[in-house]
Amino acid sequence: MSQDILLKVDNVHAHYDKSHVLHGVSLEVAKGETISLIGRNGSGRSTTLKAIMGLLPPSSGSVQLNGRELAGRPAYEICRAGIAYVPEEREVFANLTVEENLRMGEQAGVDGTHKWSLQDMFDYFPRLKERRNTYAGSLSGGEQQMLTMCRSLLGNPQLILIDEPTEGLAPMIVAAVGECIQDIHRKGVAVILVEQKLAIALKVSSRMYVMGQGCIVYEGSPHEIVNNEQLLADWLAV
Ligand SMILES: Nc1ncnc2c1ncn2[C@@H]1O[C@H](COP(=O)(O)OP(=O)(O)OP(=O)(O)O)[C@@H](O)[C@H]1O
Ligand SMILES: [Mg+2]
Repeated sequence: MSQDILLKVDNVHAHYDKSHVLHGVSLEVAKGETISLIGRNGSGRSTTLKAIMGLLPPSSGSVQLNGRELAGRPAYEICRAGIAYVPEEREVFANLTVEENLRMGEQAGVDGTHKWSLQDMFDYFPRLKERRNTYAGSLSGGEQQMLTMCRSLLGNPQLILIDEPTEGLAPMIVAAVGECIQDIHRKGVAVILVEQKLAIALKVSSRMYVMGQGCIVYEGSPHEIVNNEQLLADWLAV
């Protein structure tokens, strides 16, 4: 896969003040590949995404996108390089409408292309269409999460980091989020998904990384992971 590598994270360490949280995380994402980061609460999954995005700059190690070093670069530059981030906490402009929020995100990709339209977003999540003229601040938490995800897609990233997109959503919406992630893959955009619901991660990922205590403790296919009882017991069971 070496010539197809989009993102290469190598031996990344990260600290929150004096607290050493990431202890040498390494992972790779090929162009257009969907991978998942799974693990127990507090294992370092969100911190890994923040370190890639430059929101918690790595204290050492390397983050390369298409061979270009991004570690130590500010988040806005990493965003412009083609990485989008959908955090756990929803991030909408509360005083703008749903449609205005979406239009704020519209931007051609680094290759000049537009892969998605506003209508695509409304097709994924009809609820956003119904509420297109509503202030985003009055949406439910789940709707705000969808809106954040859609706004990111409209920026045509090469890689999208999505942190627990289905947390607290009704089952029907969870299914729509799963569909949306599969469609992102069909459009050739790479995804790093952090997901507590193993069923979704297994369905959409080609490979999965298991995290424990700030390290990657296992990498394998969904098939390998789901059939590894010891691994499930040691690193995933709650
Ligand atoms: N802002 C912060 N300041 C200090 N420590 C933090 C901060 N955010 C997270 N941590 C700590 O870093 C470790 C990794 O947290 P992280 O948020 O990456 O975990 P996670 O795998 O995303 O799990 P979850 O989302 O369930 O909390 C945990 O021990 C957590 O307590
Ligand atoms: Mg987290």
